[in-house]
Amino acid sequence: MPAEVLPTHTPVLFAAAIQRAAELLRAGEVVALPTETVYGLAANALDAAAVAQIYEAKGRPAHNPIIVHVASVEMAQRCVADWPATADKLAGAFWPGPLTLVLRRAKEIPEIVTAGGPTVGVRWPSHSFIQAVIRDCGFPLAAPSANVSTRLSPTSADHVHKQLGEKIRLIVDGGQSQVGIESTVVDLTTEPPTVLRPGMIHEESLIAVTGDLVSSQRKMRHGWEALRSPGLMEKHYAPTAKLVLLNWRDSTDLRHQLSTLNSQLSTCHVVAHTNIPSGESFARVSVIPHDAEAFARAIYAELHRCDEAGADLIVVEALPDAPEWRAIADRLRRAAA
Ligand code: TXA
Ligand code: MG
Repeated sequence: MPAEVLPTHTPVLFAAAIQRAAELLRAGEVVALPTETVYGLAANALDAAAVAQIYEAKGRPAHNPIIVHVASVEMAQRCVADWPATADKLAGAFWPGPLTLVLRRAKEIPEIVTAGGPTVGVRWPSHSFIQAVIRDCGFPLAAPSANVSTRLSPTSADHVHKQLGEKIRLIVDGGQSQVGIESTVVDLTTEPPTVLRPGMIHEESLIAVTGDLVSSQRKMRHGWEALRSPGLMEKHYAPTAKLVLLNWRDSTDLRHQLSTLNSQLSTCHVVAHTNIPSGESFARVSVIPHDAEAFARAIYAELHRCDEAGADLIVVEALPDAPEWRAIADRLRRAAA
């Protein structure tokens, strides 16, 4: 039986969906829920058997830990062994919102959530629906992005349905994700803190609060240590089609560059923000505004659309090198890997 999809666009529907989602979560089942970043596949974070079903539905490798979602600072504090002053500052500045804090885990958090590791990632999402469900349940929710492992994250209920519709019972439709890419992940067990995954809360904003910070990419380049976030090592965030990032001056220049890549222009989809090529030779040319927030919000839906249209090649116009674009560039680099 394909998943039931519950809408939430009126107060009555919203309340009914909370009831249904909380009922399934209390019974130890997994449910797909909207968040402001991407849709999540949620289960009771305190119930190891429930969390095991998340790994199963996604085909997620057991070594990849799962973020725990809370609906208050107190709830986050119950998930961790200690709550340093930096956690308080970052939570004060950015929660609820697209920021995950990695801290030493409390004993109550089962090992399956942390993939056996000593730390747990916690996040207080800003989407009102998941907040209401967490409050109704009274327990935190373990939730990775609601996609098949390594595939593109979902930013709509429809994206979830296409990937996981046959594997889960309920998808709650909370509209299109506001942020559109996954949260920034910051490890607070290092001194200074380490950015494990860039996100729309970028390093400059974090440094304004924490004073000092290192990014794991920088660490890797300097060979200081292996990346500490296992999920980030793998091929990730990938559409089915091949993806390349290119700069071009005009349509002729783009066609010329593509001819050297040996690709069929008729199955090539172009995503542009500044130099918009004329559409006649390509399967489609889409335009996303030259604005980092708008671009982040739209890019995954655009890539999902390209896959559905049977694109062989997706060409994305290279992004500006500025702090607010870096997380999007990171995702597209991984998608192109
Ligand atoms: O925005 C988000 O973070 C979304 C929504 C649903 O909240 N969730 C999400 O989860 O993107 P997921 O599982 O797709 O990505 C979480 C990333 C993984 O790369 C994982 O390895 C890392 O965070 N992570 C989770 N817990 C960690 C921990 N204790 N230590 C280091 N990395 C951790
Ligand atoms: Mg994911």
